[in-house]
Amino acid sequence: MSTNTWFSALKKSAVAIVGTATMIGLASPAAASPPPGADGEVGVQVIGGTRAAKGEFPWMVRLSMGCGGALYAPNIVLTAAHCVTRTGNNTSITATIGVVDLQDTTATKIRSTYVHRSSTYGASTGGDWALIKLASSVTNVKPLKIATTKEFDTGTFDIAGWGDTREGSHSGSRYLLKAKVPFVSDTTCRGIGGYYASLIPAAEICAGNLANGGVDTCQGDSGGPMFRRDNAGEWINVGIVSHGNGCARANAPGVYTEVSTFASAIAAAAARI
Ligand code: ARG
Repeated sequence: MSTNTWFSALKKSAVAIVGTATMIGLASPAAASPPPGADGEVGVQVIGGTRAAKGEFPWMVRLSMGCGGALYAPNIVLTAAHCVTRTGNNTSITATIGVVDLQDTTATKIRSTYVHRSSTYGASTGGDWALIKLASSVTNVKPLKIATTKEFDTGTFDIAGWGDTREGSHSGSRYLLKAKVPFVSDTTCRGIGGYYASLIPAAEICAGNLANGGVDTCQGDSGGPMFRRDNAGEWINVGIVSHGNGCARANAPGVYTEVSTFASAIAAAAARI
């Protein structure tokens, strides 16, 4: 099997496993999670992260197929192409918004009506992004802006999600977890070789702790944003959780869709759906 075939097979099976595991397994990891309220607690969460506070990242979305996303417009969620199957009408996805605890009964839950899957995903130019149109608008949340230039594709990024808290756990997290990861240049990332030799520099951005690993997104975090502050101090989405070689391993950064590269395509698609 070529690296690329293996690569996409891995990504497909990851989504399938996470989708099922999330539905069956939510209750058990929940029981193992620490109680809410404590701040700065250090644990094995996103991977190597801590609990996010309710309202800290108001645009964070949990999608029922087992992915993350971010509110792009009042009725549109930006996620990963590999989280959805195809462009077209789709009422099968439920978006959960406004909570950190997936069992919080005050959550806003809205069904999808339509999916736009990037047509360049899987092509040599890359583009692991998709838009999900919701049946109604979220009125009490300011959407997350997306990076439109490469200016912010550097520095330290924030990541958040309900995905696995260790590689292979397949159970996700009941609570939204957050962590910080440093930018890794395309040259360094590609230079790792092996899995990373197929990095698409113009379409992907790497981030992670190369020397020690330990902090990363993982299965179930896909589609969620990698974000930072812009010059005005506002959060902007610079990356979409896409893939990686395992999770949180040393010399194996997370690979994120480079949002700035696709900003105009995303805006154009959002205006159409
Ligand atoms: N493809 C995974 C998913 O579907 C995301 C993997 C992210 N991996 C990483 N090492 N950062 O959830």
